[in-house]
Amino acid sequence: MNMITFGTPSAAAPVERDAWSAYLVPKEAIDAEITRLAAGDMPASGYRASSIVHPRATDGIPSFTPVTEVTITVLKPGERTPVRRGNYSLLETSILGGGRASVATTHFPIRESDVWTVPSMKPYYYENTSDQLWAWLTYSNAAFLRRIGAYWAEENLPIPEPKPDVADALPAERPYTRKTGPIHRLPSTGTELRGYEHLTDIEPVPNPPLHWQWEDIAPYLPINPGHNDDPNKRGIWLLYNPATERRQGTTPVHFATYAGASPGTPPYAGTRGHFHTSASINYHRTGHGYSIVDGQRVDWKAGDLLLSAPSWLEHAHYVGKDGWTVLTVQDHPMQIALGSLLWQESPDQPILSLGNEEGQKGFVFPREAGK
Ligand SMILES: [Fe+2]
Repeated sequence: MNMITFGTPSAAAPVERDAWSAYLVPKEAIDAEITRLAAGDMPASGYRASSIVHPRATDGIPSFTPVTEVTITVLKPGERTPVRRGNYSLLETSILGGGRASVATTHFPIRESDVWTVPSMKPYYYENTSDQLWAWLTYSNAAFLRRIGAYWAEENLPIPEPKPDVADALPAERPYTRKTGPIHRLPSTGTELRGYEHLTDIEPVPNPPLHWQWEDIAPYLPINPGHNDDPNKRGIWLLYNPATERRQGTTPVHFATYAGASPGTPPYAGTRGHFHTSASINYHRTGHGYSIVDGQRVDWKAGDLLLSAPSWLEHAHYVGKDGWTVLTVQDHPMQIALGSLLWQESPDQPILSLGNEEGQKGFVFPREAGK
């Protein structure tokens, strides 16, 4: 008989937290990698791309957080990637120039600072239709899927062609579907038994690729002096994908928010930060400042990428006098789906289990300016 290993169960072990640390990738490092990727011939993969690897990703799976892979992809003018698809969800943003992102037969004209999505199992490819270098960041849950052995991908697919709508060849009602599968309510406890059909005939929620243009977002952000007094502007906006429903995501895994503060905004005057079990990655578009993450100061500036909030590490951001614009990507909707998202706005506030109980009331930003 094989040796079976038994260990101390989590419930009997001391509660220890082992979050990956904050990690800054300076603009200079990103620019140098873009330059390196643009040099020479296209690799055999058809992708001029690199993953940004956190020092804790020592298991051979390129990751920026335990859940999220962040990649830089570059295309020179006229270049096009092969067509791929996989069971991961992508959230992408252009950091240099633009081009065209295609998902199935949808084509997005991408410009700098835009955000777009590639849903799971949709074929996708990119073409630099401009006359300048194009570089973008991709946030993917491939890291998580590879860690649990659930990653699936196909490459070198044909370019998707529009197909005429055809009626489903199957009869509308088949004998075994979610509509006909049995459900038994158990009288003793009110719980249910459900047939196999309910496991496998899941009601689909349409999840088309989406594209947020920066020029449409910018008017809602305080960017110029005086904007903080404009009631139509907010310091943070979620780029919401209806397919994520109550999970408030941009993809099923990640949300993206754009946040901004006008030049001259009084910096946060407090010393304590907030906490969430989701991990947060900031890409700083404009401004400079610093963050205090788990007691450590990390200075940042425009063009820097920062793992600014590893899971449940206290963090606060201090914005310099020229304000900031920042794209934040967080594995928040995935944690809502897992039922695991904890949130604490400050140490004197309760720890809330978001999505499982009444959520936080009365905040429009982690902390109001100057408080
Ligand atoms: Fe946060």
